[in-house]
Amino acid sequence: MTSSARPLRLGILGAADIARRRFLPALQRCPAFEMAGIASRSYERAAALCSQFGGHAYDSYHSLLDDPGIDAVYIPLPPALHFDYALQALKQHKHMLLEKPATVTLEQARQLCTVAEESELTLYENYMFLCHPQLERIKEIISAGRLGELRLIRATFGFPRRASGDFRYQKSLGGGALLDCGGYPLRLALELLGSQVQLTDATLVPDKSAQSPQEAVDLYGNAVMRSSSGLTAQVAFGMDNAYQCSLEIWGSRATLRASRIFTAPPELKITLIIRDDKGEELIEVPPADQFLLSIERFAAAIGNPATNAELRDTILQQSTLVEICRQKAGYSL
Ligand SMILES: NC(=O)c1ccc[n+]([C@@H]2O[C@H](COP(=O)([O-])OP(=O)(O)OC[C@H]3O[C@@H](n4cnc5c(N)ncnc54)[C@H](OP(=O)(O)O)[C@@H]3O)[C@@H](O)[C@H]2O)c1
Repeated sequence: MTSSARPLRLGILGAADIARRRFLPALQRCPAFEMAGIASRSYERAAALCSQFGGHAYDSYHSLLDDPGIDAVYIPLPPALHFDYALQALKQHKHMLLEKPATVTLEQARQLCTVAEESELTLYENYMFLCHPQLERIKEIISAGRLGELRLIRATFGFPRRASGDFRYQKSLGGGALLDCGGYPLRLALELLGSQVQLTDATLVPDKSAQSPQEAVDLYGNAVMRSSSGLTAQVAFGMDNAYQCSLEIWGSRATLRASRIFTAPPELKITLIIRDDKGEELIEVPPADQFLLSIERFAAAIGNPATNAELRDTILQQSTLVEICRQKAGYSL
């Protein structure tokens, strides 16, 4: 829809690390969008980013949302702030590229989906790894029967503890391992096991260094999911863990391993490893900028009702899994 028309004007809420490092460099390479501006709680921070990437600096989120010249908004705020600002953006008739996790609760996801549908706007949750060609290649390998019958899927995503002020360790900002890094392996399991997947068991372990038990986020955890055909996925995640970013698929004939499944950098050539009783086969996937591919997927969805319905369904399925994961683990917000 954007090919014939003028580029859509996209604004950003928050001078976030991920916007500076990954989103803005990718946006510059996407002709579907024009970088319209950045809003920050600090005008200086917005101006500093605009001097690097162009666009207008706004001194508040509301001034950007109120600007009728903005067609689409990217929200890389802490998760607890996603819902209110995304709702306002949709009500101002702007398409939404929402950083993961789209919302903290299922109810919030439902409300955003309803407003997006009624307003015929795109609501997109930015799980970029879904756009990397390595995932397509893995699906082809499975379909071709190279691994045999699938016995188990195992996906892990975790990283060492970050600075204590990071929103990820603050409950009031929507922190916690499940929302931050757990969403990736859950989303991958949903992709590989299909929408009828059941989450059967989960563990979430609270951060003992929190000021009080009420303020403790979940620091690490795991979950078990089962497809309608009985295939099991074990997922694990954590934000006080040795680094892991992997997918392992164990079949009756061979095992496949991908070691940068969620965060492949744009310049990295990916090597998938298949092991069977004859040895190892290395499958190379050329480098790809999954951030740019994700922005392009968002652009392609705008004005496409069928794609938008699928995007909303997936957001709801993912939010449902997250909610069930909390219930099974006995964790309350
Ligand atoms: N898709 C991915 O690969 C990926 C990777 C990393 C993160 N993310 C997601 O992107 C979002 C941001 O992550 P990030 O690592 O970039 O975080 P970050 O650097 O901490 O940025 C968050 C921004 O939110 C704004 N903000 C507003 N109120 C805030 C508050 N009370 N406390 C802290 N920040 C506040 C700040 O911008 P101003 O002060 O300028 O207003 C801040 O720069 C999260 O949803 C995260 O899950 C996605």
